[in-house]
Amino acid sequence: MAYYSIQGIPLTTLAKQFGTPLYVYNADKIREKISVLRSAFDDISLSIKYACKANTNISVLKLMLAEGVDLDVVSPQELELGLLAGYRGDQITFTPSGVEFAEIEFAVSKGAIVNLDNLSVLEKFGQQYGSSVPCLLRIKPHVFGGGNAKIMTAHPESKFGISIHQKAEILDLVNQYQIKVIGLHQHTGSDIKDGKTFEQAASALFEFAKDFPDLELMDLGGGFKVPYSPEDPGVNMQEIGQIMGNAFLKFCAHYGKELKLWVEPGKFLVSEAGTLLTTATVVKRDPIKTFVGINSGLNHLIRPMMYGSYHYIFNASNEEDAQQDAYRVVGNICETDTFSFDFEGNQNERILNEVKEGDVIAFANAGAYGFTMASHYNSRFLPAEVLVDHSEAKLVRKRDTLEDLVRNQIFCD
Ligand code: LLP
Repeated sequence: MAYYSIQGIPLTTLAKQFGTPLYVYNADKIREKISVLRSAFDDISLSIKYACKANTNISVLKLMLAEGVDLDVVSPQELELGLLAGYRGDQITFTPSGVEFAEIEFAVSKGAIVNLDNLSVLEKFGQQYGSSVPCLLRIKPHVFGGGNAKIMTAHPESKFGISIHQKAEILDLVNQYQIKVIGLHQHTGSDIKDGKTFEQAASALFEFAKDFPDLELMDLGGGFKVPYSPEDPGVNMQEIGQIMGNAFLKFCAHYGKELKLWVEPGKFLVSEAGTLLTTATVVKRDPIKTFVGINSGLNHLIRPMMYGSYHYIFNASNEEDAQQDAYRVVGNICETDTFSFDFEGNQNERILNEVKEGDVIAFANAGAYGFTMASHYNSRFLPAEVLVDHSEAKLVRKRDTLEDLVRNQIFCD
């Protein structure tokens, strides 16, 4: 089965060679997703701005660059990582939320395009740069969309963006300081599958855009849902591309100018490319249920505990076994860090091929918001990362050592 190896290399071989816990990324999968996205918008002038908060490994960023994919960043540090990977400033968009103005100045100084999401920031931007530096505006369209409440970003109570109802205030500032708004942006949320939601958000932004005569682009954000299990078809990108693309072309016709369309996917490009490999440290046959304890925890993959997210889990050491059992898969952190959530977001058991202590337990969809959300909780080390490309597995991040835990600590007497 496709899950058990990456470009012909068995996961168990990777686990043995590099140790566990280990994040492994499949470069071909990332390229495949880029091409699926491009072909969904094939009659549109599309720029892909990879939302790199999903995965900032430099090797992944370099791959994106080589494939002609630009970057969307949310912090000066992500911006610096983009530059280190070889991006030019003008290939990077800075889309921060609620940051001090110095971060905006930093991004401008590096030549990045800034995306402003607050009236007070817009005013400061106008005072500082007038019409000399172009910018984008992040608009909150008051649209509900996203897999769960924590990842919905465009509804009326969201902290993100300038409310679509504050158009008059925006226009006052733009006119007062002659601010050069070259694009409007919105991002509805993450894990969205329904074409109607994308259409609704796009239409709201297109309607709003009519009063901005100097636009060069529209940025419709990311959020395309990925399949989380072998049975889940995920988003129909072709259909979504058609819906968004048609709405965009219609808008351009009314606007009287051919604009560029930007999209900002994170998960769609990297989620399925990643697998987290762990080792079963204990099988605990409790009178009520059977637990599999692994040498990882919410410190390495927090999505189940944070959102109740479903990750497909399988025993990579036992592909063929007819013997299966129901296991609750749990981490080694001093918290109830369960990995086996069901589709309803409840802690539950998973049917796995029989697990023995020492088996490699693998988690799919670990390429997005896996390593980037990992922490040192319980003072455990961050996992290593491996990129598989041209059927060769390369270590792209070393496992932590004790030095990493104490590097910035000051030993006082
Ligand atoms: N653009 C903006 C402005 C965003 O805030 C995000 C994600 C994206 C694009 C990319 O969204 P994506 O295509 O990856 O869904 N940690 C959560 C997801 C948080 C997303 C934050 N913003 C998770 O693991 O589900």
